[in-house]
Amino acid sequence: MKGVVLAGGLGTRLHPLTKVTNKHLLPIYNKPMIYYPIETLVKGGIREILVVTGGENAGDFLRLLGNGRMFGLEHIHYTYQEGEGGIAEALGLARHFADNEPITVILGDNIIEDDISGAIREFEKQGSGARIMLKEVPDPERFGVAELVDGKIVSIEEKPAQPKSRYAVTGIYMYDGKVFEFIDGLEPSARNELEITDVNNLYIRDNAMTFTMLKGWWTDAGTFESLYRANRLVAEQYIQ
Ligand code: G1P
Repeated sequence: MKGVVLAGGLGTRLHPLTKVTNKHLLPIYNKPMIYYPIETLVKGGIREILVVTGGENAGDFLRLLGNGRMFGLEHIHYTYQEGEGGIAEALGLARHFADNEPITVILGDNIIEDDISGAIREFEKQGSGARIMLKEVPDPERFGVAELVDGKIVSIEEKPAQPKSRYAVTGIYMYDGKVFEFIDGLEPSARNELEITDVNNLYIRDNAMTFTMLKGWWTDAGTFESLYRANRLVAEQYIQ
């Protein structure tokens, strides 16, 4: 299994914090944000990792992470997203790296308490299709929201005004090689991005989507409120 960390974007919801740096380089308690998703992949047993970044500060990722020795890795792959085309466009840049093998994708601002090795093993057993990780949240309208019927996901809606459940689609996704065909067929959404939710709905259409409920806490960190929450949740592991 290979891993992909998506760490591009302009982080405009965090201006002025992200005016002169990339969101994923901001601190979460005692480490830069991007350390956490990389650690999540490494704890899940993934050794081959691609970081997709972009913008004005891409070089800083290389200076910060190098070959990933601090994570026990021998090498980190990097690629560059030009512009702001969305999560699915960023993932499209991983095609050559993935080389038709299964991948675990994590958004660079998703921080979790649990480890994902169980879900990765389940996906390996599954053999094809996709698997996403869901989490029950009090504010589902901020996320992709999964509608479950008889224990199966029947649809995902991106930031719905009237969510059909409280199950947020976290930024942890596992895909087979077909994901790149699906990305090729996408049309930009109303916010002019290629949406990962559209990719996931194509797997659902093909009856090839499974899920794992994430245990422990989960947060993103793309707004002032969630960035503060991420810092608090991580700090609480250190400070009693
Ligand atoms: C993205 C996805 C959304 C997902 C979320 C998880 O939203 O579009 O489906 O629930 O990440 O962090 P964004 O934060 O980019 O708006």
